[in-house]
Amino acid sequence: MKTITSETGEKIKIVVGDITKLEVDAIVNAANKTLLGGGGVDGAIHTAAGIGLLKECRTLGGCNVGQSKMTGAYQLPCKKVIHTVGPIWYGGSDNERKMLESCYDTAMQLAEEHHLKSIAFSCISTGVFGFPKAEAAQIAKRVICEHIRNGYDGEVIICCFSEDDARYYM
Ligand code: AR6
Repeated sequence: MKTITSETGEKIKIVVGDITKLEVDAIVNAANKTLLGGGGVDGAIHTAAGIGLLKECRTLGGCNVGQSKMTGAYQLPCKKVIHTVGPIWYGGSDNERKMLESCYDTAMQLAEEHHLKSIAFSCISTGVFGFPKAEAAQIAKRVICEHIRNGYDGEVIICCFSEDDARYYM
């Protein structure tokens, strides 16, 4: 675990590993619009959480790109799962950056509204959805830092699946 500090003093922790193992108040899932599971981190979260998560997700009616919805965590060691739907990268002229910003923004809003004391993000959209990793890392850090500067006082973690991915955040 490494802590990075922005130029204006906000602190974010960078963890390398499997997000399903983290004992935090909420983990942020890189979901799709159906919210009914998939591959990647979404698949890992649904597998580890168990069928209860899928049942709750079925009641949510999906979720738009750039938006976030929260559920219970079932058999996961965290308390809540925030499902955010990242944009698919089509080259950058399809509002992808604004949509990714909105993912981080709406997930942080849920953390604030529900007084969550720790939140761990997966690297939204940077797997199958193909968002360039370096730019995604800058967007993630900027939006998270804005929330910390505006008063969020919980712990914010970015959970990278590999050391290689973590380098984009350092
Ligand atoms: N813990 C932490 N990070 C992980 C884990 C894990 N267990 N598994 C993968 N990652 P992706 P996306 C990383 O593809 O690009 C799904 O099918 C992975 O290395 O999971 O937003 C959904 O249902 C990458 O850095 O999400 C959607 O259809 C990051 O998680 C679609 O994929 C995100 O990769 C979403 O695509």
